[in-house]
Amino acid sequence: MDELMPTTAFRIADLAARQDEAVRIAEKRAVDRQHAKGKLTARERIGLLLDPGSFVELDQFARHRCAEFGMDANRPYGDGVVTGHGTVDGRQICVFSQDFTVFGGSMGEVSGEKVLKVMDLAMALGCPVVGINDSGGARIQEGVVSLAYYAELGRRNAHASGVVPQISMIMGPCAGGAVYAPAITDFTVMVDETSHMFVTGPDVVHAVTGERVTAQELGGAAVQSEIAGNAHHRAADEQDAIEWVQTLLGYLPANNLDPAPEYADDTSSVVTPADLELDRLVPDSPNQTYDMTELIARLVDDGEYAEVHSTFAPNMICAFGRVQGRTVGVVANQPRHQAGVLDIDASEKAARFVRFCDAFSIPLLTLADVPGYLPGSDQERGGIIRRGAKLIYAYSEATVPKVTVVVRKAYGGGYAVMGSKHLGADVTLAWPTAEIAVMGAEGAVQVLYRRELAELPPDRRAAARRRLTEEYRKRHTGPYLAAERGYVDQVVTPSQTRLQVARALRTLRTKRQTLPAKKHGNIPL
Ligand code: HXC
Repeated sequence: MDELMPTTAFRIADLAARQDEAVRIAEKRAVDRQHAKGKLTARERIGLLLDPGSFVELDQFARHRCAEFGMDANRPYGDGVVTGHGTVDGRQICVFSQDFTVFGGSMGEVSGEKVLKVMDLAMALGCPVVGINDSGGARIQEGVVSLAYYAELGRRNAHASGVVPQISMIMGPCAGGAVYAPAITDFTVMVDETSHMFVTGPDVVHAVTGERVTAQELGGAAVQSEIAGNAHHRAADEQDAIEWVQTLLGYLPANNLDPAPEYADDTSSVVTPADLELDRLVPDSPNQTYDMTELIARLVDDGEYAEVHSTFAPNMICAFGRVQGRTVGVVANQPRHQAGVLDIDASEKAARFVRFCDAFSIPLLTLADVPGYLPGSDQERGGIIRRGAKLIYAYSEATVPKVTVVVRKAYGGGYAVMGSKHLGADVTLAWPTAEIAVMGAEGAVQVLYRRELAELPPDRRAAARRRLTEEYRKRHTGPYLAAERGYVDQVVTPSQTRLQVARALRTLRTKRQTLPAKKHGNIPL
């Protein structure tokens, strides 16, 4: 017996070694397949996202229970997700990264437990959580158990909303009900060509409707970031996606109780040559356009800002920047796209951004140049009333410091909605070029003088219309009627704007405002 022991022990060790070797080969094949698709592995992604050496993995040895679900039990450790915490630029975050090389990154019981555990940790620590998605969705073999974990994750996302920033990175497939967890998070980035997101994939679409469509056409990064608006950034590749998230995190506080990171204020306290350039930004002709990002770049520190949703509803800009070292959320109309008009997409984009900033105590800087809401049956039937109302609701509910600059047009509903005094702006500035009115001069003359113009001989109408338009513009637009009533606090020259905005935000640092106590409001969803 004693003599047999070493032999038996040797055989067991040999078998284990062979199994380990088989597992190692299988793992390497899976990693090679992942790389061949142009994708990094779960751990490689974490390694790039976090500061070198900062990752602390949780539940590394948590083992799948696939045998209990009638699956091949001869599988390595792990269960399709890597979780843990580490730092980005020295600041704590929690992370989970779905591992497509194990069970296609699908969510099963053990991976579900791991993800929920790291979400709970993020809430306990009060730090942002980044979810890296690359998964076949709910693990088919585990049935209702995997569905349960998705629903549990959605509940965690909802409870964490407004408490810690949540960011989703879509680095591969994200399909079915699995899309709803990223949808609840604050910001989503997708990688061009290698990621897609949809509720029902191309095969089901074809079976049900007969439509033939590829995964990219249905839910690739281009579609999601430009048309559907589910992605806030379309990254050229995984490295770009990771850098975007790192930049974004740099603007955000760790949670709703802590302030955003503050940097030394090295801005000039006098008017600079860059400020003076603003005096020439707005063209004399009201029909000529300009680029609002030129203004944003001159108002924020070092001209640096990070746009979110840059290719979705580009008529509205939402961006994070810093003023005197502190984060601000910039909401601005972009006259270069559809004259900066407010439509459904622009309203919803800005409303969600305003609510994010408010939840995380980030002051709002609004730059208005808006001809009003977009007319047309598409918009009316699409629900512009209900969906446009979200922006009014969001601004009205926001108690963070709110500073607004009316740059040029502020017509009709656009005036009221774009961070006006009436929705609770603390400081409203206007440039001398501001045109605050119910509508543009041409439209107003058409309504007010229709009969008079019709009675004129046709050859005199154009000149009369020009004269009336000019008279109307002088008498009824401009910032002074609003300034007389205190709707505009100050009319400032463009070159003074940076200093006045900074002063306003400095003054408002101690702002305190509370809303009536209630369980929650009922934003028109
Ligand atoms: C179990 C899965 C899986 C899943 C993929 N795999 N998805 N295993 N459950 N949901 C496994 C595959 O069997 C394969 O295992 C490995 O992962 C890699 O998958 P491939 O198909 O070889 O990869 P690829 O060709 O890149 O295709 C990826 C894919 C495809 C497009 C994601 O696998 C696919 O269509 N999967 C099903 C997607 C789906 O319908 N999921 C359910 C969504 S509903 P081996 O062993 O061969 O390596 C949902 C509900 C959530 O998620 C509810 C929330 C409330």
